[in-house]
Amino acid sequence: MGVPIWTTLLLLVLSTRKSWQISLPSDPTYQAAIVEFVPSQAATSKMRLKENLAAMTEIIASDQVDGLDILVFPEYVLNNMDMKTYVPDPNDKISPCETTNYDYFLTTLSCAARSRNIYLAINVVEKQLCADSLPEDCDESGMNTYNTNVVFDRRGRVISRYRKSHLYRYEWYNTNVLSKPELATFETDFGVTFGHFICFDMLFYEPALMLVKELNITDIIYPTYWFSELPFLTSVQLQEGWAYSNDVNLLAADSSLPAMQNTGSGIYAGKFGRLTAVIHEEPTTVVLRAEVPKVAYRSQWSPPTTVQPMFVPKLETPRFSRIGLLRDYNVDLFTTKLLDEDFTDISEKVCHGQFCCQFSGKRTFISGSNTLSAYRYRLVAYDGSETTFQQIDPSELGVCAIITCTNADLSSCGRIFPEGVRVGNKYYFNSLNVTGSFRHAERRLIMPSTVDARIMPLSLSQFEFEEIDGDSSTWVSIALTTPNADLLTFGIYANYYSQQGTRHNLDPPNWQSGAYRTAAINVSGGLLIVVLYLSITIFLK
Ligand SMILES: *[C@@H]1O[C@H](CO)[C@@H](O)[C@H](O)[C@H]1NC(C)=O
Ligand SMILES: *[C@@H]1O[C@H](CO)[C@@H](O)[C@H](O)[C@H]1NC(C)=O
Ligand SMILES: *[C@@H]1O[C@H](CO)[C@@H](O)[C@H](O)[C@H]1NC(C)=O
Repeated sequence: MGVPIWTTLLLLVLSTRKSWQISLPSDPTYQAAIVEFVPSQAATSKMRLKENLAAMTEIIASDQVDGLDILVFPEYVLNNMDMKTYVPDPNDKISPCETTNYDYFLTTLSCAARSRNIYLAINVVEKQLCADSLPEDCDESGMNTYNTNVVFDRRGRVISRYRKSHLYRYEWYNTNVLSKPELATFETDFGVTFGHFICFDMLFYEPALMLVKELNITDIIYPTYWFSELPFLTSVQLQEGWAYSNDVNLLAADSSLPAMQNTGSGIYAGKFGRLTAVIHEEPTTVVLRAEVPKVAYRSQWSPPTTVQPMFVPKLETPRFSRIGLLRDYNVDLFTTKLLDEDFTDISEKVCHGQFCCQFSGKRTFISGSNTLSAYRYRLVAYDGSETTFQQIDPSELGVCAIITCTNADLSSCGRIFPEGVRVGNKYYFNSLNVTGSFRHAERRLIMPSTVDARIMPLSLSQFEFEEIDGDSSTWVSIALTTPNADLLTFGIYANYYSQQGTRHNLDPPNWQSGAYRTAAINVSGGLLIVVLYLSITIFLK
């Protein structure tokens, strides 16, 4: 008699287990998740790889992945330079789970994607034999190293691969770039075509903006290992601004080592703002899920209503001080105006050359205190190309913003008070409005740029962003719609996508790399003109 009872129980258990349905092309949304991930800090490369792989496979097997269509892990949190892997060519539709010619970790993740029936995006250090490639695309050693995104489909097949185009800092020593950045896209069985790129790529036109502007890609996968910088380039601030201004869905997964400046991930639905986003003070591995509205079905979708808590003026509010943050040295070139410690009204125009920013706003006194430190505010304006992105590549920027400083000195702007300092909000902003007219350019992205004391951008319900296109410029305004007491940055940040090259202090054979190429063309163009000029002068004599 025991047997039927067991069978019934087993059947009950099986039938109450939720069966997950994958999203269909006709569904207005799809189910996505990103992982903010703490990479192993074990002593050896091999131990780190083992621990990272174990943590990833555990997440993929967990119920947090139930019902997902697509899952994204961050950049550089799996293998490293000592443990490179070959990656199959996506054209060959190879499943490493079935063809074990690849590193064990790649095979394992391919099998994990297949077993959970999901699309899975990871980032690896790739090795590639390149003797058959174009000479400019092959390292002298015959072996290239790339920072590479790999996408598996639901059967574990590698269907897309992207090699990072804009390397960061010391990556230039040991990583190759293709002479021409590739545009990596892939189609899914739920009717969405994704494009992908990596980390620092977000600040450049090719391929990031090209995917959106030229291929009309509406959904982006973005593994990153971001180094946050104040006032304008903290992780979530940039991710949300980029997704907003391009009006695309963005799945951004960051590594989580906050003391080292790395944290901040989210899922963003373009002009609808963030669906979910986090930034951490302590290393945190977390899966963030969202039901993402497909761009083609947006009209049938209403964003979840988030009720902002009522603003209550408070002298002390939570702030993050244990996240490592870089300082943007470009600010030293900007035209700036320091505001009085106790200003209550702003009505100012600040110009950098012909480019002017208008500022208006009001502050209300909360309460005074001699024991608390307070930020100073500066109004800043800039339009030019003497700037860089984090001292790595040239940039061309247009900026109108109000930023914070820890004292009256410009060099303290873009810094936060260290841990242990008690910071007081002696005033709060009732209103704040920043406007500027940004010159037209073929390549341009104008982003709202805001960040508060928790290193998060304001949510879309807290400000209004308006753009009006004119003959030769676009008038842009950003204005608070709710009071705010702990702003660190509030303004408009326009990237004009500098086309200046850089040599990254590399030796001449490496100058063929994509980043240097534009500069090389310019130098040879210049030489040609000099030669022509000399010949003509000699001829005329
Ligand atoms: C992108 O969209 C534009 C405008 O709708 C269209 O003209 C263009 O052909 C599209 N490009 C691609 C690659 O689909
Ligand atoms: C912001 O200020 C400009 C004038 O500089 C004005 O035209 C615009 O309407 C203001 N926006 C808001 C939301 O108050
Ligand atoms: C060449 O340099 C000039 C400025 O020196 C710049 O405006 C232009 O975009 C550069 N051209 C290329 C192809 O990089």
